[in-house]
Amino acid sequence: MKGQNLTIGLDIGSHAVKICELKDTKSGLQLISLGSARLPEGAVDDGELRDPDAVALTIKALMKNLKIKSKKVGISISGYSVILKKINLAVMGDTELEEHIQSEAEQYIPFDISEVYLDFQDLKTGSEGEDRTDVMLVAAKKDVVDIYLDMLKSIGLKTVLVDVDAFALENSFEVTSGQEGNILLVDIGSSKMNINIISGGASLFARDIAFGSRQLTELIQDKFDLSFEDAEALKTGAAEPGDNSEDLEEIFVSTTTQWALEIKKAIDFYNSNFPDSPLEKLVLSGGGARVKGLDTFFAEDTGIPVEVFNPFISVTADDKKIDPDYLQYIAPEMAISMGLATRPVPF
Ligand SMILES: Nc1ncnc2c1ncn2[C@@H]1O[C@H](COP(=O)(O)OP(=O)(O)OP(=O)(O)O)[C@@H](O)[C@H]1O
Ligand SMILES: [Mg+2]
Repeated sequence: MKGQNLTIGLDIGSHAVKICELKDTKSGLQLISLGSARLPEGAVDDGELRDPDAVALTIKALMKNLKIKSKKVGISISGYSVILKKINLAVMGDTELEEHIQSEAEQYIPFDISEVYLDFQDLKTGSEGEDRTDVMLVAAKKDVVDIYLDMLKSIGLKTVLVDVDAFALENSFEVTSGQEGNILLVDIGSSKMNINIISGGASLFARDIAFGSRQLTELIQDKFDLSFEDAEALKTGAAEPGDNSEDLEEIFVSTTTQWALEIKKAIDFYNSNFPDSPLEKLVLSGGGARVKGLDTFFAEDTGIPVEVFNPFISVTADDKKIDPDYLQYIAPEMAISMGLATRPVPF
């Protein structure tokens, strides 16, 4: 794989577009460029492109800013239009499995089978001699995906990879850490959190939940009668809370308690299915990971050690081109784009 061209990782979130470009060198992965640009409110919602033109403009400007020449991008999708389902099947060869999946998938997918792109991965969970294995089924609504492909084409980009947020996150973690233990990955974005439990390099449980850091902004907006931007500033600490600090604290506590509850549901599910292999740690990413004290709170509440993810920990970067402080700051929300950017260009 060394020396191969890698895909430009393009993470189109509901708050911001993130771009990451890596190079595969003899001494490992090298960070060539990275950046993030805010999207207009409502341009992307629940994984759907509502305003393709606005998103296209943002991506184009960011690519230009970062002086990225390559046109081959990899994106990932999430939201209601993506269905992930783990199914248990008889062990069979790849071609046979591919045929079988087509007929099998229908019963698991709430959309007409002709309306979805279908993919799968044999998780090879059956140990030697067993005749059944788990297969992860991935389906995505064609119309939703096609809007992304058309939008990218309109600005001269070629989409060479369409992944799913949860798996791009998993890839990012595995490439960075080289670890294959029982890990709980949690990415808290603006409007959703991805929870993905991985073990031995495979995903055991993946779910999107419609909670994210935007909830905080909206609650702050309502409580103090502020504009979205002013509420956002109060949330991120860019503005001082003054007399409002107690009410603000209450919003943070109630919201993050809700987040922790969702995480604990996933942990309970995992523990009841795999009682003998406890989770080793929770790895936190996304812009929401920046909520002050969130890592400590999750660790106390779940009893699992928490680490804020830095996907660039084992990647080299030129300090003169990329400010190390900026890199450190932006790292947690670049997790998905980094995961996409490690993939070789398939053609
Ligand atoms: N210090 C902070 N405290 C709380 N939230 C923060 C902080 N800094 C950034 N955020 C929030 O993180 C979010 C952006 O994170 P991210 O880029 O991961 O989201 P996204 O990928 O665009 O959204 P999604 O994945 O939900 O579609 C925004 O809601 C932003 O307000
Ligand atoms: Mg995101």
